[in-house]
Amino acid sequence: KALSILSVPFGYGAGRRGTEFGPEAIRLAGLNRQLKELGFHIDKEVTLPVPSESGETHPNLKYLNEIIELNTNLAAEVAGVVNQGAFPLVLGGDHSIAIGTLGGLVQKYKNLGVIWFDAHADLNTEETSPSGNIHGMSLGVAMGRGPSLLTQIKGAGPNLKPENIVLIGTRQLDQGERDFIRSSGIKCFTMHDIDRKGMSAVMDEALAIVTNGTDGVHLSFDIDSLDPLEAPGTGTKIPGGVSYREAHFALELMCESKKITSAEFVEVNPSLDSGNKTARLAVELIASLLGQRIL
Ligand code: ARG
Ligand code: MN
Ligand code: MN
Ligand code: MN
Repeated sequence: KALSILSVPFGYGAGRRGTEFGPEAIRLAGLNRQLKELGFHIDKEVTLPVPSESGETHPNLKYLNEIIELNTNLAAEVAGVVNQGAFPLVLGGDHSIAIGTLGGLVQKYKNLGVIWFDAHADLNTEETSPSGNIHGMSLGVAMGRGPSLLTQIKGAGPNLKPENIVLIGTRQLDQGERDFIRSSGIKCFTMHDIDRKGMSAVMDEALAIVTNGTDGVHLSFDIDSLDPLEAPGTGTKIPGGVSYREAHFALELMCESKKITSAEFVEVNPSLDSGNKTARLAVELIASLLGQRIL
């Protein structure tokens, strides 16, 4: 089992500093030991270089230049990993890095399925964003929605189809995102759906959607999908989140499906954490995705 780890110590897409320390915190929490216990051979470990601050400002697209540069490099790295046949595990960093991850993946997968496990939809544009933080726009950009300066990044665009995308754990949407979800037909499993149907049924439906007519499935896992009581070390906490067991169970089911071909774990912010609890949680969750079982 070959795995490539891409560390992305980048936090300019988020409104609060600190997610740039996420990869280091996840390492300290014992990621490599855990992966070796699970029998993985770590093929390659790359830390993406962080662009220096340009100083240029764009009113509602904060750190635009830095985000373009980082994601252009990340897309090329991810494309290299998948072309060699290894499983890319991307460690963020804030969620703006999904632009690069997805941009790299679609160079190989022409019909990629995406599971966006997140309290948020990250479907804002420059016009609809209340914050100007690009981590709240990344899924949209990857679908070709938003300013051409971002959607010109290699891979962003119509390669990602709304019918191949599911959102899970959603509980905060801005109006423009709500409108776009309705008009595009992206399937959104909100916390209400998880309460009503249970995580088991939600995952069955979600996996059926993302595997229907696709040639790969990417998991984009934002740690703020979990309840803030479980994951305090993240910058945009929303109460009423996915429980500890629901999250593990969802990842165990993804593992069982044998359909997941890449993953990223983002938005761990050690400067807001208590101890290194949230990074340790991220390591456990990665283990569940990659095959850790109780018995
Ligand atoms: N919807 C809010 C915004 O666009 C919050 C986005 C949070 N995104 C994230 N990846 N944590 O500013
Ligand atoms: Mn500019
Ligand atoms: Mn997110
Ligand atoms: Mn989020």
